Amino acid sequence: MISYKELGLVNSKELFAKAVKGGYAIPAFNFNNMEQMQAIISACVETESPVILQVSSGARKYANQTLLRYMAQGAVEYAKELGKNIPIVLHLDHGDTFELCKSCIEMGFSSVMIDGSHHSYEKNIELTKQVVEYAHKHGVTVEGELGVLSGIEDDVVAAKSIYTQPEQVEDFVKKTGVDSLAISIGTSHGANKFKPEQCTRNEKGVLVPPPLRFDILEEIERRIPGFPIVLHGASSVPMDLIDVINTHGGKMKDAVGIPEEQLRRAAASAVCKINIDSDGRIAMTAAIRKAFVDNPGEFDPRKYLGPARDALKQLYKHKIVNVLGSANRI
Ligand code: G3H
Ligand code: 13P
Ligand code: ZN
Repeated sequence: MISYKELGLVNSKELFAKAVKGGYAIPAFNFNNMEQMQAIISACVETESPVILQVSSGARKYANQTLLRYMAQGAVEYAKELGKNIPIVLHLDHGDTFELCKSCIEMGFSSVMIDGSHHSYEKNIELTKQVVEYAHKHGVTVEGELGVLSGIEDDVVAAKSIYTQPEQVEDFVKKTGVDSLAISIGTSHGANKFKPEQCTRNEKGVLVPPPLRFDILEEIERRIPGFPIVLHGASSVPMDLIDVINTHGGKMKDAVGIPEEQLRRAAASAVCKINIDSDGRIAMTAAIRKAFVDNPGEFDPRKYLGPARDALKQLYKHKIVNVLGSANRI
């Protein structure tokens, strides 16, 4: 067992308290490889933003959990070397079992998500409470989830029942002891967050998604004032980057995300953690596709991963400064 404190990491408790008070959100960026980690840390150091480094189950399978943990430890030293001791949280994204959360805590994670949203309400409470009891013994913070975030396959917008039900939140928070709560108000994972028929089109023919359910968010805030709320599936799917992908051999059809002005509004509320992964994937893919088309004779991975890393860093700085408002908050 190694404590996250020995690795120089922090849990999310204080960061969230400050973010809720200050009306901004902490960025939660997923990482699977070195270039993503370099982009995240250098962007956060340069903007003086705290950061949550997220590891999904997919990342653990792809990159090996031990390597990822050492990368997070390395990130603490890298930030110092760049000149700023920014607060860094190492967080398990979408943990689905008690055993997985426990194993991450034992490896040095400072925060875990237990996503019991696909279980019954009672089972979600039981599982979340079990994780909280173990995590809190080790000073690790826990994110729970109420309401289901769907992918393109499900009728996320049509089916009201999968939005978070505000009347459940007080009871859930009280019974589980969670430190933060992920809610479902219309966001979803991936680059195709809505079906075209759920959207309208603007004058340029670009898909405009239905707005987030701020009425649900407000009712949740009324019931648990000041409690840290988390938004998953918060990528904006920038159309200029989708265009670069599609004009350089890509085929991303009907991609649509959450408009940034809605995320700015959410960040100013009790939403204090905003998860962004797909936008980073899109930025990297656009840069790599462009590098391949522009320099077809190139075969040194640094020549296309380097531009991808630069594009990613630029995207993260934009999110921090112009969307989440977490710059200069260390
Ligand atoms: O919540 C989903 C994140 O974007 C992680 O995705 O499971 O493909 O790593 P992944
Ligand atoms: P996006 O797919 O919108 O980037 O969401 C990422 C996420 O919620 C990770 O947990
Ligand atoms: Zn998520």
